Amino acid sequence: MEYTTLGRTGMEVSRLCLGCMSFGTSAWRDWVLDEDESLPIIERAIDLGINFFDTANMYSRGESERVLGTALEGRREESVVATKVYFQMDDDNPNSGGLSRKAIEQELAASLGRLGMETVDLYQTHRWDYDTPIGETLRALDDAIRRGQVRHVGASSMWARQFARALQASDRLGLDRFLTMQNHYNLLYREEEREMLPLCQQEDVAVIPWSPLARGYLTRPHEEFDATVRGETDDHARRHPYFEGNGREVNERVEELADEEDATMAQVALAWLLHKEWVDAPIVGTTCLEHLEEAVAALDISLSESDIEWLEEPYEPVRVSGHD
Ligand SMILES: NC(=O)c1ccc[n+]([C@@H]2O[C@H](COP(=O)([O-])OP(=O)(O)OC[C@H]3O[C@@H](n4cnc5c(N)ncnc54)[C@H](OP(=O)(O)O)[C@@H]3O)[C@@H](O)[C@H]2O)c1
Repeated sequence: MEYTTLGRTGMEVSRLCLGCMSFGTSAWRDWVLDEDESLPIIERAIDLGINFFDTANMYSRGESERVLGTALEGRREESVVATKVYFQMDDDNPNSGGLSRKAIEQELAASLGRLGMETVDLYQTHRWDYDTPIGETLRALDDAIRRGQVRHVGASSMWARQFARALQASDRLGLDRFLTMQNHYNLLYREEEREMLPLCQQEDVAVIPWSPLARGYLTRPHEEFDATVRGETDDHARRHPYFEGNGREVNERVEELADEEDATMAQVALAWLLHKEWVDAPIVGTTCLEHLEEAVAALDISLSESDIEWLEEPYEPVRVSGHD
């Protein structure tokens, strides 16, 4: 396994982060694994040297955090655990969502309880809260750091102008700033290259992209996308603009290069991200040991400049996706 320093947090993390959205309960989404099937995947990831795990309070409505906490029992010090807050957890309680002080304090306590941990290494805002002033959110997060419940704070998908405002506000108020950005970035969705990624580079913010395999579309030929349960049932995959622009041609080029390199499509798509200077650790989602092993082996794939240009060439701008 390769490790990298996660920006200014100073923490050493594996170059692949294991996404835990696929672990929890199949009652939440058809393609999510229940606990007994999830644990062997997390354990194998640990054997392979992965020490970085991303979950969220909303994944399987808390079950993902609980399962991750169980898997990491007795191995807490070796692992870097990231979770998130924002989406409403209880339909009957509007204060179980958003980024108000009340929501953050309550949801963080609940996340720590499910994880069975006193401290989370990285606490991320899952989306921008248009109803809470950013200063209020930043103060509540900073207080959580002072209480020892959170080591560092990060953010997920938002407009670059909002992220710039948040960074400025924390500096002005003397509060801990967001040190990581978890954004939507892969070969089929590159709108982040315009503003967000250069901003992260300029501000020394670590980048941990989500859905690096375009929710599976970059792992198999276009016409086979529906061939898995997730491909068939994951509405989000269809809401993202993967099939727009020249997405299909990018998919075909990934397949062609994979054949040439004697690699899988998933490995080529991951290798492309791992070659991008602004990417620290893509967050990979998998429900299968073989795919996990393939992802780790992608670290050994070396792409030439011309391979990268060829993969990127067909891309056309698509509508913004992942935040609004
Ligand atoms: N911050 C946010 O808003 C946000 C949004 C989405 C996701 N996330 C994070 O990002 C993580 C990953 O997201 P994701 O699951 O949407 O994305 P992904 O990694 O782009 O795609 C996962 C899909 O790719 C398939 N796959 C993975 N490796 C494969 C391989 N070697 N061969 C064939 N298929 C392969 C998986 O199938 P198998 O299960 O069969 O392996 C699964 O269907 C999540 O777990 C979560 O932590 C964050």
